[in-house]
Amino acid sequence: MEKVTVKDIARMKGTGKIVMVTAYDYPMAKIVDSAGVDMILVGDSLAMVVLGYPTTHGVTLRDMLRHTMAVARAKPRALVVGDMPFGSYETSNSKAVRSAIAFVRAGAEAVKLEGGSEYADRVKAIVKAGIPVMGHIGLTPQRYLKYGGYKPRGRRLDEIRQLLLDAEALQEAGAFSLVIEFTAAEVAELITRKLQIPTICIGSGLHCDGQVLVLHDILGLSEHTPPFAKKYVDLKQIIAQAVSSYAREVREGLFPGPEHTVVRLKEPLDLESLLRDIGERSSH
Ligand code: KIV
Repeated sequence: MEKVTVKDIARMKGTGKIVMVTAYDYPMAKIVDSAGVDMILVGDSLAMVVLGYPTTHGVTLRDMLRHTMAVARAKPRALVVGDMPFGSYETSNSKAVRSAIAFVRAGAEAVKLEGGSEYADRVKAIVKAGIPVMGHIGLTPQRYLKYGGYKPRGRRLDEIRQLLLDAEALQEAGAFSLVIEFTAAEVAELITRKLQIPTICIGSGLHCDGQVLVLHDILGLSEHTPPFAKKYVDLKQIIAQAVSSYAREVREGLFPGPEHTVVRLKEPLDLESLLRDIGERSSH
């Protein structure tokens, strides 16, 4: 199977079949890649689902780069997208380009950044440096302070108009695709129809070019699962059951069993004489 590139993602416009999922480490990147996803997002949701911060504001560029490296070491077929964290691109184009270059050096093949037309010049500058950019509009969790929480976007006409303008500005700036988060499905559908680049939706309905979910939501590992996410398995329960079985077996003397006691002596051991010998030596 050939490596997925941004050109392949562009060709999937109109199919509704693009699949993106987050991953933050080597083993999970291997597993999700073997499941055949098109893109792996090293999302800044890392902050909450892995590092235990209350919001994405806690995660730094350094954290993101370390986890991007871990994902890239899995050498996935899927395109690896690094999520630019809060504070890594807001203040200037040059800072944004520097951060994006650091992501590429860590193994990312594209970066994602949150924001609309106000960040179009950042997108343009990063694309000019040769790095593909994925936009992200609608609910933008890094801006929760500005918007007063994690509210759905695009329900009133003025917001819908703004979202359309943002989407077009990001496309114009050179973004290769666009995440649309937590908007009315009709709005995501409208943007999907208007744009030539693929839209990847989360909590914005079915009529997009693809979907993205946070891996820990799919697996039932998140502490707080958003209402639009689907839990496909309850790994929290499965893991707790496995660990409590292990704890019980240790306490009942059942683990390790003979099949897990694998180191064999090279010569027969007379335990009694060895103990006697040690005892005599220590009494001198
Ligand atoms: O960080 C993340 O996981 C994301 C997705 C929700 C799109 O940005």
